Amino acid sequence: MAQAAQPRHLIHLGDLEQDELRDWIDLSLSIKRSGAAPALPGRTLGMLFFRGSLRTRTSFEAAVHQLGGHAINLNAASDFWELEAREGVVMDGRAPEHIRDAAAVLSSYVDALAIRPAPAGHSWELDRRDEGINAWAAHARVPVINMESALWHPLQALADTMTMRESLGELAGKRLAITWSHAPEPSSPAVVHSLLDAAARFGMHIKVAHPPGYDLDGEVMRRAKAASERAGGALEFTSDREDAVRGAHVVYARSWRSLEHYGNSTLAASQRSRTIGWSVDEQLMKLGEDAKFMHAMPIRRNLEATDEVLDGPRSLILCQAENRLHSQKAVLTRLLGR
Ligand code: CP
Repeated sequence: MAQAAQPRHLIHLGDLEQDELRDWIDLSLSIKRSGAAPALPGRTLGMLFFRGSLRTRTSFEAAVHQLGGHAINLNAASDFWELEAREGVVMDGRAPEHIRDAAAVLSSYVDALAIRPAPAGHSWELDRRDEGINAWAAHARVPVINMESALWHPLQALADTMTMRESLGELAGKRLAITWSHAPEPSSPAVVHSLLDAAARFGMHIKVAHPPGYDLDGEVMRRAKAASERAGGALEFTSDREDAVRGAHVVYARSWRSLEHYGNSTLAASQRSRTIGWSVDEQLMKLGEDAKFMHAMPIRRNLEATDEVLDGPRSLILCQAENRLHSQKAVLTRLLGR
C-alpha cells in the first residue's frame, strides 16, 4: 500500500528554506498592501490553546474567516482536558487521553491544526524538547502550526520580520538590538529565539543585551550564530544595554525567564529583583540611529518600557500586532491554499 504523504508542518522557521521564508514575508507584505485571495473556501482550522492568548487567537481566527475558511477554537481550560505527550507510559495520571489519539481524531475533522502548548515550567532540559508540539506533528495527518511552544514562536517572528522589512526595507546589514526587560512574570524565550533565527538568516547585525544569568538556549544561540555567519551578518551578546542599542535601527524588548533558575521560582524571583532598571525609555532609544521600538506584547507599561516610548513615533508595537493578521494569512495560503 502506498504511504500517505507527510503533511507540511510549521514548528519553527527552520522548517522553511531561505527562499520560502523570503517568499512568505513578501506574500505577507503583498496581502497587507493589496488584500488576500480567498484561498480557504471549505477549509477548517482547528486551534487548540493549552494557555491563554489575545493576539494569536484573534488574528488567526480573523485570518481564516477573511480567507473564506472556518476556525474552531478549543481551550484546554474549558473545552477539553490534559493530554499525554509521552510515549509508552501507563496513563494512570491526570491526562485521560493521549495526543496520539487526539491528533488522529482531529485530523479527520479539520484541514490543519494550530497548537499553543503549555510547557510544564519545571525543567528547561525537559521543556526545551517541545514534546507536546512535536507529538502533535508526529501524529497528525494534517499540517500542524506552532502557536508558541517553549522553544519557538514562528508566527510572531514572521510578523516581526515583516514589520522590520516594512519599516527598514532590506534587512541585510541593518542593526537590531534585542534587550531583556524586567517583568514580574517573564515569558519563555520563544519569541526571542525565533526572532534571532529570522534576523540572523536575513544577515542583520544583532546585539542581544541581558543581565547575567539570562543566557538564551545554547543550541538556539549556536544555530543563530551559524546562520548569521552564512548570511554575512553578526551576532553578539552583552550585559551592557547602551552598547547594544548604540547605532541600532530597531530596539526589541522582551522579558524572558532565567534558564539558569528555570523551575525554581524563589531563586528566579530573587535574581529578577536585581534587574528592575531593565526598562526602555527615550534616553536609551536616543542612542539608536533613529531607532524604532518593537515588542511582541503583552507589555507591562512603565516597567518594560515607558508610555513615552510605547505611544511615541518610534513605536511599532501596534503595527507588529496588526501584521500577525497579514502574515498568518500568508502562512495559511502557503500551507493550505487551494
Ligand atoms: N505575541 C503573542 O503571541 O500574543 P498573545 O500571547 O496574546 O497571543
